Amino acid sequence: MKVPFLDLKASFEPLREEMFKELNGIFDRTDFVLGQPVKKLEEAAREYCGVKYALGLANGTDALVIALRSLRIGKGDEVITSPFTFFATAESINEVGARPVFCDISPDTYNLDPRKVVDFLENYCDQSDKGIINRATGGLVKAVLPVHLYGLMAEMTEFRRIQEKYGLELIEDAAQAFGAAMELDGRSDVKAGSCGDVGCFSFYPSKNLGGAGDGGMIVTNRDDIHELAKVIHVHGSRQRYHHSEFGYNSRLDSFQAAILLVKLASLDKWIDMRIKNAESYNSIFANKLKSAGIPFAMSADLPPNGKRDENAVILPSCPAGFKHTYNTYEIRTPKRDSCVEFLASRGVGNMIYYPVPLHLQDVFEYLKYSDGDLPVTEAISTDILALPQYPELGSDAIEYVVESIVEFLKKK
Ligand SMILES: Cc1ncc(COP(=O)(O)O)c(C=O)c1O
Repeated sequence: MKVPFLDLKASFEPLREEMFKELNGIFDRTDFVLGQPVKKLEEAAREYCGVKYALGLANGTDALVIALRSLRIGKGDEVITSPFTFFATAESINEVGARPVFCDISPDTYNLDPRKVVDFLENYCDQSDKGIINRATGGLVKAVLPVHLYGLMAEMTEFRRIQEKYGLELIEDAAQAFGAAMELDGRSDVKAGSCGDVGCFSFYPSKNLGGAGDGGMIVTNRDDIHELAKVIHVHGSRQRYHHSEFGYNSRLDSFQAAILLVKLASLDKWIDMRIKNAESYNSIFANKLKSAGIPFAMSADLPPNGKRDENAVILPSCPAGFKHTYNTYEIRTPKRDSCVEFLASRGVGNMIYYPVPLHLQDVFEYLKYSDGDLPVTEAISTDILALPQYPELGSDAIEYVVESIVEFLKKK
């Protein structure tokens, strides 16, 4: 049996006709740039996320850059973020001239740990009349940028407290988490992207809501952010050929918007299918590992320092009050690298998100982090493994993937 890591065709195929009809409409109207589908998608996303504004952009990286620029974050400023994420999160901070500050992640969620952020703010920063100053660099700490990794929201209740107490901007990297939700301030189903000052999405094809190419979006309730982002995404122009800012050409393409609009109608169904897959993975793993006498634990049950029985397989869990969308499904397994080889020989697709934490990337050498600085992240980057996950993945495929892994672990 072969189980691909992703099967994008499975979700596109049933909608092909509807999508082509919408694409034909664009040819009829020739509204290729900032056309009707872009406006419609912004309206639909605004409503879905429960926010005042949504702005389509060329990709998720631009969404982060434009969010930062719209908050006037730049040279001399610092932004606290996760070291365990796709590179673009910190790349965007660097891109606007600011400095990323990495705090460690929680072993139970793999997301930026608000307790580590508080530790940094309390013990490594000073309050001044300008704001919070990083004692080591003299930089002004302006924002905190948690990432909703793998489709699970970061602990936004705690991050909102931090935002308020320390007067920081709160930016959500929700690239992997369109449709994820949580309980917040007594409200249920509060969507990813809507909890902070600004939320950033990617519509890269593998995301929960994925296009047929690149796309991105920011959502916000703040008038000032929306107004400035709107200007920056069209060359800093408020009035055609008059430029009050340096900006970008970062418009969401009409074709992508049309496809995303069609797909948005199926998003909740697809998220439910992703959740079912993750639940099947977890229960089949639990049964088979138990019968094979291999230790395992749920990520939520790990001690706060992330230390665990070295032979245990860690399965992902969703904390109470959160809706995990399982954009990807990750386990932690000892001898991950030889497991990857074994899975390839069994025709099972897999990926490692992410093998090198951002604080140890060559390009961030100038930040002067070293091995051992962020131990939870470093440990997880050595044993995390993403298994096949997409809405249409069948139960036979899940069974086969789990069997293959348990067979590998038994042999050792
Ligand atoms: C966490 C995270 N942030 C940012 C991005 C950047 O999005 P894009 O690839 O659309 O530029 C991605 C996409 O892979 C991501 O996973």
